[in-house]
Amino acid sequence: MEQFKKVLLEATKEAGKIIQQYFQGSFNIENKEGINNLVTEVDKHSEKAIIDIIRKNYPEHSIISEEVGEMLQESDYQWIIDPIDGTVNFAHGIPICCVSIGLKHKEELLLGAVYNPMMNELFFAEKGKGAYLNDKPIKVSSKTNFAKACLVTGFPYKWPNSSEHPIRVFERFILEGLPVRRLGSAAIDLCWVACGRFDGFWEYNLSSWDVAAGYLIVQEAGGRITNFDGEPYSVFDKETLATNGHIHEDMLRLIRNKK
Ligand code: IPD
Ligand code: CA
Ligand code: CA
Repeated sequence: MEQFKKVLLEATKEAGKIIQQYFQGSFNIENKEGINNLVTEVDKHSEKAIIDIIRKNYPEHSIISEEVGEMLQESDYQWIIDPIDGTVNFAHGIPICCVSIGLKHKEELLLGAVYNPMMNELFFAEKGKGAYLNDKPIKVSSKTNFAKACLVTGFPYKWPNSSEHPIRVFERFILEGLPVRRLGSAAIDLCWVACGRFDGFWEYNLSSWDVAAGYLIVQEAGGRITNFDGEPYSVFDKETLATNGHIHEDMLRLIRNKK
């Protein structure tokens, strides 16, 4: 495990260095699907640096990474990479973006790291060994009073589903009088729940690379993470609810619009 951790941190820090180097500088920006779903040359540069480090050390492992997609092999180990989470923020010079890398063995996440170099914040967790921010242990908040909770969410660029639009769910939280923030980086949202800045986070339609590392970091910080039916979470789920545990049922009630 020590060797996995070393490689994870080396890749995370190298990507962070690249992100910071280009931050608020000039770089090429392209659209993916839709005009606001962006990818920059820095996403690709960061991704290449991460994959090169992993490949050099573990050529037999599988990789899922946002821009290059799946590089699957006959291995129980899978690295799940978001080379920049919060690309829209990054492209606008907003310092809320990060690199996120998780390592999964079969169905279990072993390690996760989320690094925002602009804020010099490196979140890390190892299965069964706790969660850390810059090497100091972190815990979710202890707030039990839902009426005083501070929350965060995000929205998909497109909502093809015929079901209720996420903005309606957001509306219910706002009408309840709760402060709800929207930072633009799901990985950072999860880490900020893990360290107690937020009491809860929910979002629809995230991808495995957005959540893999943050999922383990929340769990190891003592938080609870489920889908919107309150069932056990998988990084491939399309519904993500992460909380300090105490306000989980209250959030589920509002998301599902139950009295
Ligand atoms: C996005 C961010 C954002 C979330 C989007 C994601 P990207 O990731 O995590 O907070 O709302 O759904 O796609 O595109 O910046 O890596
Ligand atoms: Ca992302
Ligand atoms: Ca990304």
